Amino acid sequence: MKERVDILKCEVHEEENPYVPERARIIRKYDLTNDVRFFQVRLCNHEKVMEWTTKYKPGQFMMLSIPNVGEAPFSITSTPTRPGIFEFCIRKVGRLTGKLFELRENDFVWLRGPFGNGFPVEKMRGKDLLFVAGGLGAAPLRSVLLYALDYRERFGKIYYLYGAKNPDEMLFKDEFFGMKERQDFDCYLTVDSDPTGEWPYDIGVVTTLFKYVKDIDVENTVAVVCGPPVMYKFVVQEFMKLGIHEENIYMTLERKMKCGMGKCGQCVVGHKYTCIDGPVFTLWDVKTIRNLI
Ligand SMILES: Cc1cc2nc3c(=O)[nH]c(=O)nc-3n(C[C@H](O)[C@H](O)[C@H](O)COP(=O)(O)OP(=O)(O)OC[C@H]3O[C@@H](n4cnc5c(N)ncnc54)[C@H](O)[C@@H]3O)c2cc1C
Ligand code: FES
Repeated sequence: MKERVDILKCEVHEEENPYVPERARIIRKYDLTNDVRFFQVRLCNHEKVMEWTTKYKPGQFMMLSIPNVGEAPFSITSTPTRPGIFEFCIRKVGRLTGKLFELRENDFVWLRGPFGNGFPVEKMRGKDLLFVAGGLGAAPLRSVLLYALDYRERFGKIYYLYGAKNPDEMLFKDEFFGMKERQDFDCYLTVDSDPTGEWPYDIGVVTTLFKYVKDIDVENTVAVVCGPPVMYKFVVQEFMKLGIHEENIYMTLERKMKCGMGKCGQCVVGHKYTCIDGPVFTLWDVKTIRNLI
């Protein structure tokens, strides 16, 4: 551990090395779809459990690693309002994620973070909230949605619109089905197609759900979209039709990352470091910074 000397106060402080990860135990895992798995992990260092799991912001990410395999960024899908654990939804795409899928409960992973700016939860206070998720975009959005529901009295109307390709591809299906019963916010789910013939809700792309969005105070609404890049253009058009201001429209953008903390330059776009200035950006940022999307 490095020491930092505060000359003015004549004090010596121990400083964490941000490159050194903390070991965490997988305490629960299950499949959300055929290639996306839910992982609930708990830090092994008991002294750090509460410190780490209460201080992050929804929308931030952790660097998760397995020694001798690799390290990559993953959005935290849990909320700091339910501390003690971190939760992730991970799609199996390559070397690290492939190895992660081989791990069992009680095996270890390593974590650094949290990194990134996260959603502006303080700015959202007192506002109506309109969340729109597509596919794996439900991972970071679940964090801010659960946060808003746990602090329900701090926000105005809350809409959550979520679209998946088909019922088998919908993440947290049972959780969202349960949320539809709640009277204090509006949750709408859709699938592009339903080969099962048993889907009880809407069928169509996520933008078809905008017909349910009523009575929001557009001057006082924060809108968030998170999903595959192809979806952003169409969802943003719907936000604009409603009259929501560009600076109140947020989106999360993914870039390849290495250090997660503004040192390596891997994630730089224009004059922005996606790992520090993002991954959450406003529509205004996206329009003014070339190649951000
Ligand atoms: C801020 C942030 C948050 C993320 N959150 C999640 C999450 O919650 N869940 C999740 O499953 N994934 C998430 N990702 C993507 C995740 O980091 C990559 O899938 C991971 O790096 C793949 O590692 P791998 O070793 O298994 O794959 P690799 O063997 O490195 O690569 C496999 C394939 O995936 C591509 N790839 C790798 N990284 C990315 C990336 N960042 N964007 C697009 N394509 C990539 C590679 O080009 C290659 O085609 C996030 C990425 C960022 C930047
Ligand atoms: S990931 Fe290294 S600077 Fe952003």
